[in-house]
Amino acid sequence: MKSKVLVLGCGEMGEMAIDDLVTFGSFDEVIIGTRHPEKAKPVMARLRSKRTKLSVQQVEVHDRDKLAALMRGVEVVLNSAGPNYKNALLVAHAALQAQVDLVDMSDDYVSTAELLALDTRAKEAGVTFVIGLGASPGINNVIARLGANALDEVEEIHTAWIMSGADPGGLALSYHLLYSLSGKALTFQDGKYIEVQSFRDGREVLEFPKPVGSMEVFHIGHPEPVTLPRYFKNLKYADDKASFNPSFVNDWIVNLRELGLCAEEPATINGVTYTPMDIAAAALHKTCKNLQEYRKEGALRVEVKGKWRGKTTRLIYAASGRIAQGTGIAAAIGAQMLADRLVEEKGAFAPEGCIDPGIFMQELLDKRSIGELITKRIEE
Ligand SMILES: NC(=O)c1ccc[n+]([C@@H]2O[C@H](COP(=O)([O-])OP(=O)(O)OC[C@H]3O[C@@H](n4cnc5c(N)ncnc54)[C@H](OP(=O)(O)O)[C@@H]3O)[C@@H](O)[C@H]2O)c1
Repeated sequence: MKSKVLVLGCGEMGEMAIDDLVTFGSFDEVIIGTRHPEKAKPVMARLRSKRTKLSVQQVEVHDRDKLAALMRGVEVVLNSAGPNYKNALLVAHAALQAQVDLVDMSDDYVSTAELLALDTRAKEAGVTFVIGLGASPGINNVIARLGANALDEVEEIHTAWIMSGADPGGLALSYHLLYSLSGKALTFQDGKYIEVQSFRDGREVLEFPKPVGSMEVFHIGHPEPVTLPRYFKNLKYADDKASFNPSFVNDWIVNLRELGLCAEEPATINGVTYTPMDIAAAALHKTCKNLQEYRKEGALRVEVKGKWRGKTTRLIYAASGRIAQGTGIAAAIGAQMLADRLVEEKGAFAPEGCIDPGIFMQELLDKRSIGELITKRIEE
């Protein structure tokens, strides 16, 4: 029987995932499911010469029955049809209906918790959901597992990232930034969740690999502090800090919420219905796309602190690169690992709960050669 993967969404992250599945994957067919199939035509034309069959189907993720019908007969679904706070749960429910494995790149912390709450239902359906397998969350969570596996005890996990304002991804990503990174965030301290303000609280300066360098970062509303304590039971501290380069984009995001422009109540202007969020997301996206004088690389950083042979030990991992590569390729590797039965557990998991870091990092760094993971070990 021919093996098939369904990729939902064909935007900036989806295109990179499709490219990777066609180039490195073992699927016979990659089916693109998206609401405007005509937009997938340039991607199909670009990848046509490759060995894997590519096809496209019109689908709206709100149409659960049609979506579940499209999912039946594929081995795994890769969801890149963001924004995740609007779409990820709809896709997960369709995957439960179709009884198919799912990998997504969920980055909104509230919907991530809702997705992980489907754990029992996923187990009952005999499927595996890997929630939040992009760059951050995603690669950072797998690196957290890599570091934890190298220690005897884990006490603290600090995750961080830098995103280039000049490389803002697609429009769905701007909705995510305004929804999840403009207001309250959660961080995990002394074994409990604490509410903080995104891009205002927790200021510190961290060193990232070239060409990013030294950057000021802040707490932000992201899934890592929500998911990491689930899998590392004695964890006392987990956070996720970030900044844009240039850092004034941080202020744009917070200010747009303060101006009331993250509201989602519809209003009709000259006969066309929009929400303030629609206008703010489109404006943020377009303004970022115009920041062309800034470098396009971002960076990831993970610090795992704990005990090794009785000594307090800190493991610091960091890498730099472009956001679509880190995100799309990570999700594609996850989809391939699910199809290859390299994730045995059934249920809904964050990446640190089910992805073997050795296999994943080998695929990412050795097979794809997309960059270097800089590693530092400090024994105190
Ligand atoms: N975890 C991570 O590290 C990470 C990193 C980056 C991005 N992300 C997330 O990944 C998601 C995708 O980002 P992107 O930059 O690829 O965004 P994008 O370029 O806007 O792509 C979104 C795609 O989803 C499709 N889509 C949206 N709503 C749909 C619906 N209701 N039914 C069917 N298709 C639908 C869009 O179709 P049309 O536009 O053609 O209508 C488009 O093809 C975002 O939610 C973003 O927050 C995660």
